Amino acid sequence: MIKSISRKPVEFTGNEDIVVIPLFEGRRELKGPAKKLDVLCRSGVSSYIKTTNFKPKLGKTAIIGFTQPKAPNHVMLLGMGKASRLTPETLTAVGGNASRALKSRGFKSCHILLDESFTGEQSERSERSESLYSFFKGFALAHYTFSLKSGRAGVSGLRKVTVMSNDTGTVDAAIKKGKIIAEYTGIVRDLVNRPADDVTPVMMAEEAKSLAADHGLEYRAMGLKQIEKLKMGAVLAVARGSRREPRFVSLHYNKGLAARNGVPKVCLVGKGVTFDSGGISIKPWQAMNEMKGDMAGAAVVMSVIGAAAKFELPIEIIGLLPCVENMPDGIAIKPGDVITTYSGKTIEIISTDAEGRLILSDALAYANEFKPDVIVDIATLTGAVIIALGTRIAGALGNSQDEVDRLVTASRATGESAWQLPIDDSFKEMIKGDISDYKNFSGRDGSTITAAALLGEFVGSTPWVHVDIAGTFWAQNAKVPYQSKGATGFGVDLMIAYLESLAAKKTK
Ligand code: BES
Ligand code: MG
Ligand code: ZN
Repeated sequence: MIKSISRKPVEFTGNEDIVVIPLFEGRRELKGPAKKLDVLCRSGVSSYIKTTNFKPKLGKTAIIGFTQPKAPNHVMLLGMGKASRLTPETLTAVGGNASRALKSRGFKSCHILLDESFTGEQSERSERSESLYSFFKGFALAHYTFSLKSGRAGVSGLRKVTVMSNDTGTVDAAIKKGKIIAEYTGIVRDLVNRPADDVTPVMMAEEAKSLAADHGLEYRAMGLKQIEKLKMGAVLAVARGSRREPRFVSLHYNKGLAARNGVPKVCLVGKGVTFDSGGISIKPWQAMNEMKGDMAGAAVVMSVIGAAAKFELPIEIIGLLPCVENMPDGIAIKPGDVITTYSGKTIEIISTDAEGRLILSDALAYANEFKPDVIVDIATLTGAVIIALGTRIAGALGNSQDEVDRLVTASRATGESAWQLPIDDSFKEMIKGDISDYKNFSGRDGSTITAAALLGEFVGSTPWVHVDIAGTFWAQNAKVPYQSKGATGFGVDLMIAYLESLAAKKTK
């Protein structure tokens, strides 16, 4: 990933290896600093555009070489598409395109020229500057790699990126935010990409511990004995099939601030299944390896709290990470078993592969005891959400339309979309048990919703939003320019946007 991105005023020295010029469709005339650069290149840029009929379609790039002493060695034209059609998503993508193109051509450093045509005309200004960070996020993330290959890993790609702009406030803030979001998204990617033999429940706790130390968060981890003492029957039930002990981790940012200052207090809960074999209801082999990433929700929660601390968000956050491994074993839970959850409510196991909702039922009931203003959980919960919304949009469900709206609205300002699915009363009927209060699975019909409906039984009357990232946590290929095959880190940008919105809400 690219760590070094900084800004300096627009000034050409002729020593730049490559200067990136973003171009919008319909605005092909070079103006301002780009025009100046063209002069230094003896009109080489404008004549290239004319003679090759370069069309600045979104993400299209072209590299031109120069030998004039006052010109940079190269100029890269970067197609931005139509200015009116730029969204946070396309900005992230185009940042990724630029970054990849430079990497594949072996550039070690680059300059990016951001004049007013990029940061927005007066009328579009505030909106554009709010999403400008997406460009830097995509630019940094496109360089993310993960490898456990033997042999020396060659360092490739950009090491130094200089943004040329005179717009101090907007651009500096956008660079800072883009870098932080990319960095914390990278933390999630690493945790998800690392094999489950490495990222065990105990290791998740260790990771949370060091993150807490780095960010001044309060950290606590409960082991088997304490989880038993608290009677978290669902966590214990799932953990029973594994020889690895569970951990129930909590992180606390700005502890006591809600009571002191009246800022919102939010509980974030993340599914931390470090490997989901399915248990006795074992999964088929296809893509079972991806289930090393079934702790993506927990990884997002810990990373987001770190990022929130970095941004110094004026809000109190409690992060809860139930971490277990779901394995088949002689004493593993079986279909037909009935477990008693932390809340006292009973659940019949229909499928041991529907384990996420079990551990979350304990974690959500526990979350309630903090008396938060809102609970948000994030989980790779159901295969059905992939069928419903595909691999680019997360599912959002909840018991509070205001908070679901807040999350869905916040998602639109990021490249990470969430869309709501309804928890109609009929779904609540479907999860009622025959011999128990509930059952953990009721067939494929609407199964993203029935899973959420079960979770909803454990949050009491606290406003709650559930985010299902089973479709978005993993990329099957590197088609999206800022993603590589494997973990996407989806959720960090979205959750930060949600928390920002919550923090901006008028406090009680
Ligand atoms: N971890 C899975 C959900 C999942 C599926 C995540 C695909 C990422 C990609 C979850 O624990 C699960 O197994 N859900 C099943 C439940 C059902 C078969 C009982 C599902 O939704 O398919
Ligand atoms: Mg992992
Ligand atoms: Zn499962």
